Amino acid sequence: MVTFILNRELVTTDKAEGSSLLDFLRYDMGLTGTKTGCREGDCGACTVLAGALSGGTVIYRSAVSCLMPLGNAQGKHIVTIEGINTGHLSHIQQSMVSNGAIQCGFCTPGIVMSLVAESTSHKESTTNSVISSIAGNICRCTGYKSIERAAQEIAAALSDKDVTDPVRWLVERQQLPDYFLEIPVKLSSITRSPGDAAGAVIESGKLSDAGIRIAGGTDLMVKHADELAESGIISLSDRKDLQGITTEAGRCIIGASVTISEAGESETLRKYFPEILSCIPLIASEPVRNMATIAGNIVNASPIGDMTIILLALNADVTIAGGGPSRAMPLRDLFLGYKKLDMAPEEYLRNISFEYDSAKALFSFEKVSRRTHLDIASVNSAIQLCTEGDLIAVCHLSAGGVSPVPLYLKKTSAFLRGRAVSPSSLLQANEVLQQEISPISDARGSADYKRLLLRQLLFAHFLKLFPEKINPDIGKL
Ligand SMILES: Cc1cc2nc3c(=O)[nH]c(=O)nc-3n(C[C@H](O)[C@H](O)[C@H](O)COP(=O)(O)OP(=O)(O)OC[C@H]3O[C@@H](n4cnc5c(N)ncnc54)[C@H](O)[C@@H]3O)c2cc1C
Ligand code: FES
Ligand code: FES
Repeated sequence: MVTFILNRELVTTDKAEGSSLLDFLRYDMGLTGTKTGCREGDCGACTVLAGALSGGTVIYRSAVSCLMPLGNAQGKHIVTIEGINTGHLSHIQQSMVSNGAIQCGFCTPGIVMSLVAESTSHKESTTNSVISSIAGNICRCTGYKSIERAAQEIAAALSDKDVTDPVRWLVERQQLPDYFLEIPVKLSSITRSPGDAAGAVIESGKLSDAGIRIAGGTDLMVKHADELAESGIISLSDRKDLQGITTEAGRCIIGASVTISEAGESETLRKYFPEILSCIPLIASEPVRNMATIAGNIVNASPIGDMTIILLALNADVTIAGGGPSRAMPLRDLFLGYKKLDMAPEEYLRNISFEYDSAKALFSFEKVSRRTHLDIASVNSAIQLCTEGDLIAVCHLSAGGVSPVPLYLKKTSAFLRGRAVSPSSLLQANEVLQQEISPISDARGSADYKRLLLRQLLFAHFLKLFPEKINPDIGKL
């Protein structure tokens, strides 16, 4: 059974928890304002708000309902385009109309819901943040300039938003219906918290009886939607023991179910590892980041998983539980072969931890994809470096898309340690690197192209971190 608030109503359903929220909305509840487009998280036509209670406040985030397992709606407030109706057009809707940002209208509900999510966020809304909030929404017929103009107008209307209580601020200005103010109390009366039932099952180890383990669903729902629609799931996304980012004994510990958005927003992580901020916008789109977890990125074992590549360069460890006493191991040793992990079926990832000295360390993440945003990398790479005098003392280099697994470049990292930062070190390091990788030709590029890309990314890291020592012409050597 899944219980949640859908717009104004409390709903309980015994529909399979692995079926998509989108199908439940459209076919069980008749809420056809939420559109079905790609069903792969790419177009944003199905965007809704998912509000979760945090303290006494509801935090709303955009979510692609095609990839959200119904079970992940447990205990939340799900808002569709029908649920924001106040009887008149809101600023957001009016700006879309006034700027001619709508033609066929198919993408419009998704765009409006992404913009509503931005307006309910507890942060300042600027033109940039408003435009970023719709980076996951594709429009096939209007053209983006008019949508951008609408976004500018919306940012202006939100310029004096009360970031301490944005929902009340919006309700008082009749931008959201009054019922939003009752939601915190209503949500707190839903007895089963999200993830409670899963908690009992996951520790028992009886996975096959209980269902398929799922976190944000942004990987599994794309690949196994039909299978999931008929099965039970073990939802990990809201498990309290898999949440949170802390620092202990000089290490940063990230709960397995922390989402990519939460990682980017965490004050603790930003303070400990400030470079996280520049990495996040390069990963997926806002609604996908709101759902996608760090553990999902690691366990799906994609050779080009961005968070995995970043964590490999942070020389991270993972803690694995569920098969007896929990065990810790270096993340790089988790990957045994293509989509093959050193993890038994009853085991799961509990947390990821790493040490980083922000006063000394330098970090760079580079990703080459066909589009800057909302695209999977052809090749990505990250590096962590510390220097002592003129020499490299610490070096951890990783790369994706050049091997069957997300790769920690052990030999190249070892080669660079103890060497001076110079063009000749880099050219020699590239010789080692080329021996260490084994890219294949596929839809994202030929093997030769990927070899060339990684060479240039190695140089790009050093150009970015040591502009005074490395000349941009190194790429032409
Ligand atoms: C439109 C779109 C764009 C994307 N863009 C990017 C991108 O730019 N970069 C990128 O790296 N990825 C991208 N992805 C891929 C995906 O979003 C990420 O890999 C994401 O981090 C997966 O996390 P999840 O929680 O959604 O995983 P899920 O789909 O829930 O799970 C993935 C796998 O992990 C397992 N799992 C999850 N948590 C645990 C745990 N704690 N212990 C054991 N097993 C666990 C599940 O059983 C499953 O096998 C994109 C996906 C979509 C749909
Ligand atoms: S239908 Fe395209 S993102 Fe959901
Ligand atoms: S208005 Fe037609 S897809 Fe955007």
